[in-house]
Amino acid sequence: MTKSILYINGDGVGPELMASARSVIDELVDVEWVEGHAGYATFKQQGTPLPQATIDSARACDSVLFCAVTTPPNIPNYKSAIITLRQELDLYANLRPFDSLPNVSVPAWASGGLQQPPSASPLHFAIVRENTEGLYSSIEESDGQRATALRVITRHASERIVKFAFDYAKARKFSRVTLVHKANVLRKTDGLFLEAGREIAKSYARAGISCDDAIVDSVAMRLVKSPQDFQVIATTNLFGDILSDEASALIGGLGVAPSANIGEKHSLFEPVHGSAPDIAGRGIANPTGMLRSAAMMLERIGCKKEAVRLEKAIARAYEQRIVTKDVGGSASTAQMVEAIRANL
Ligand code: NAI
Ligand code: MG
Repeated sequence: MTKSILYINGDGVGPELMASARSVIDELVDVEWVEGHAGYATFKQQGTPLPQATIDSARACDSVLFCAVTTPPNIPNYKSAIITLRQELDLYANLRPFDSLPNVSVPAWASGGLQQPPSASPLHFAIVRENTEGLYSSIEESDGQRATALRVITRHASERIVKFAFDYAKARKFSRVTLVHKANVLRKTDGLFLEAGREIAKSYARAGISCDDAIVDSVAMRLVKSPQDFQVIATTNLFGDILSDEASALIGGLGVAPSANIGEKHSLFEPVHGSAPDIAGRGIANPTGMLRSAAMMLERIGCKKEAVRLEKAIARAYEQRIVTKDVGGSASTAQMVEAIRANL
C-alpha cells in the first residue's frame, strides 16, 4: 500500500533541500506527499509556528519528513516547532548515526577542504538521545537574580531509551552500548538513568551485546581523540544534543548528518542541521543530511532496498567528488542532487 508522508519544508535552506529529497524519493518509491506547515514563516502567516492542522496530519500520516525551522531569538514565549512536534508525537528516541563518507575527512567543516583523517578506519557509530525530558523539561524559572531549570529524569523514560539503544545495536550488529552520564556529580538524576540502564542491559547480555558506561566530559574528549572506541551511545537529552553535534564534525560537519525521531506510534526524520539562514537561497547547501534522513525514513516505511540504493548513490557522489563546498567540493546543491539521482 502507498505510504503517506507529511513533508514540512521549514525555513531557510529547508524548501530547497526538501524539494531535492522529494525528487529523489519519487525516483525510488511511490509515496503520497502531504504538505504540512511549521516554522517561522508559518508563524508570520498564521500566528503560530506549529498549526494544529500540521500536528493532526503528522498523526495521520505514516511518517514525517522535516527539514529545519528558524527559531527567532527575540520573540518571548516562542517555542520551536520541532521541539513541540517531538513532544506532541511522543518521539522519545532521537537516533543519530555517524558514518564516514568517502573522501571526506575531518574537520572539513573548519577548513572547508579535504584533509587527512584523524583515524585510519572509517567511522561507524550512533548516538541515541532521550528526546522528551532531562534539562529540556521546559520547567524554568527566574526572578531576575536567580534562575533555575529542572532536570527531570524518570525511570520509565530511561528504560525505554536504553532499550531502544540496545534494540538498535542488535538490529545493526553492534556489540556494545555505552551509557553516557554524569552520575558522579548528578547523583540522583543520572544515578537513576544509570541504574535503569544497567537493569535493561542485563536482558541483552545473552544476545551478546555488552554494556559499559562513561562520564560525559571524558566522552567529549574521546570522541575527538579515539572515536572508534564507540559503537552505540545512549544518553540523556542535553548530553546527547551536544555530543551529536560534536560527532557530526567527525564525518564532515552538520551538512552530512541525518537523524530520526522515533516513538511508539510515530516517526519523524530530519537532518541534524538548522535552517542555515547564512546560505539559504544560494543553492549551495549540502543535501547529504537531508537525503540520508530520507533514506532512514524509507527503511522505516518498509523500503529497505530503496534506502540502501539511496545511501550507495550518495556515497558514490562523494567518490566522484561531486559534492558541495562545505565538504571540500565545488558542486551546487542541484549538481550534487543530479549526480545522486544518476547514481541511483
Ligand atoms: P545551522 O545548523 O543552521 O548552521 C550552522 C552552520 O552550518 C552555518 O554556517 C550553516 O551555513 C552551516 N550549515 C548548516 N546546514 C548546512 C548544509 N546543509 N550545508 C552546508 N552548510 C550548512 O545552525 P544555526 O546557525 O545555529 O541556527 C540557524 C537557525 O536554525 C536558528 O534559528 C536555529 O534556532 C535553527 N535550528 C533549527 C534546528 C531544527 O529545526 N531542527 C536545529 C538547529 C538550529
Ligand atoms: Mg543540536
